[in-house]
Amino acid sequence: MRNFRNEEGNMVIGGLRAADIAARFGTPVYVTDESAVRENYRRIRDAFKPHMPVRVHFACKANTALAILRILEQEGSHIDAVSIGEVDACLRAGFPPHRILYTGVNVSDRELKQIVARGVNVNVDSLSELERLARISTEVNISFRVNPQVGAGHHSHVVTGAKSTKFGVPKDLIIRAYDRALELGFMPFGLHAHIGAGVQDVAPFVEVTEVLVGIMNEVESRLGLKLEVLDIGGGVGIPYRPEDKAMDVEAYAREVTSRIKGRCSAKTVAIEPGRYIIADTTVLLTTVVDVKETGDKRFCGVDAGFNTLVRPAFYGSYHHVAVANKFGRPGEFTYDVVGPICESGDFIAKDRLLPRVEEGDVIAVYDAGAYGFTMSSSYNMRGRPREVLVKDGLASVIREEESLDDLLRLERIPTRLMI
Ligand code: LLP
Repeated sequence: MRNFRNEEGNMVIGGLRAADIAARFGTPVYVTDESAVRENYRRIRDAFKPHMPVRVHFACKANTALAILRILEQEGSHIDAVSIGEVDACLRAGFPPHRILYTGVNVSDRELKQIVARGVNVNVDSLSELERLARISTEVNISFRVNPQVGAGHHSHVVTGAKSTKFGVPKDLIIRAYDRALELGFMPFGLHAHIGAGVQDVAPFVEVTEVLVGIMNEVESRLGLKLEVLDIGGGVGIPYRPEDKAMDVEAYAREVTSRIKGRCSAKTVAIEPGRYIIADTTVLLTTVVDVKETGDKRFCGVDAGFNTLVRPAFYGSYHHVAVANKFGRPGEFTYDVVGPICESGDFIAKDRLLPRVEEGDVIAVYDAGAYGFTMSSSYNMRGRPREVLVKDGLASVIREEESLDDLLRLERIPTRLMI
């Protein structure tokens, strides 16, 4: 959660009043503060810098807006991409292929061929993928994703490192995987694991680092292969609730690097933060369109639903909300903030103490930059919202609102149905 400036009872983002942004661009609208993106990127990179060389791979599944990718390209970021679509978006945003690491799971041959043609690095998830990749080309820089049997995360859906999950080469097969890669003519450069997302403490990251260091040493002693890059994945959580504490990234960097330096062949540590870099840079602005009292409940009806931001409905996630044009006013009533989708699971926030809301007020939904827009949909035939980038009082549209024509562009009615 960022602290937003309060100007005469108005929330300010990127030097502009949120209510003015809403009036100018319409709602719902995702609004991202460019300076915050740069600050977050630099903070996590700089935490590692004093200890050892670090590669920060922005996990672009969190946010693939081309303008945001441009900002991170300018900052020198690398990319964690999970699909050919993400890879191509990053290439279009100007990333050179060598700064992109493709980490797929259950990758089809079709996608593998496309990935190979792009010349990006490939983080191999299984022995099957290795064999299929070798049939396409061995002129590819590869690393392996191991299933480290260390898992953590804010919800069971996002724990990826536990033994029971579908991800990575099983730990007891990982030496065989490197051996086979060498036999096939690859020269693997690294080892990777990702424990899960929304992790709030340092301990699981230290634990997974120790697993990776152990494997690297075994690879070196058994196969004579010195792996250069140790990639601990992403998953650094953020404080979504006012009472949450931010993870100490300095301690995270210090603790992780102290387990690597001088203890294995790795010269570079790689991390893959998505949420940490982008979540708190963005608010979703949504207008109050309807206020309803049922006797025991007050509903604040807004124009954003789970089509716009699915995390509350999908994971039960908490996103802080504030009335942007009554910013700082004490709470008066408890509301459920609910959207226009025809399902009772359609909520943005539940049981929130807010100042009295009226039609026309603007609600700011915090920390919407990660897995907000990228997980949005056109459910109920509503186009995805506009995205706006703000910086020092300037606002630019970085994605237009989807129109009905955009939604229907790929549809066809067979002529026999036209009579
Ligand atoms: N690296 C890999 C291999 C990943 O699978 C992920 C996330 C990341 C890095 C970045 O994780 P982060 O630093 O953003 O936590 N939709 C969920 C999160 C799913 C994350 C999936 N993988 C959410 O809204 O919380």
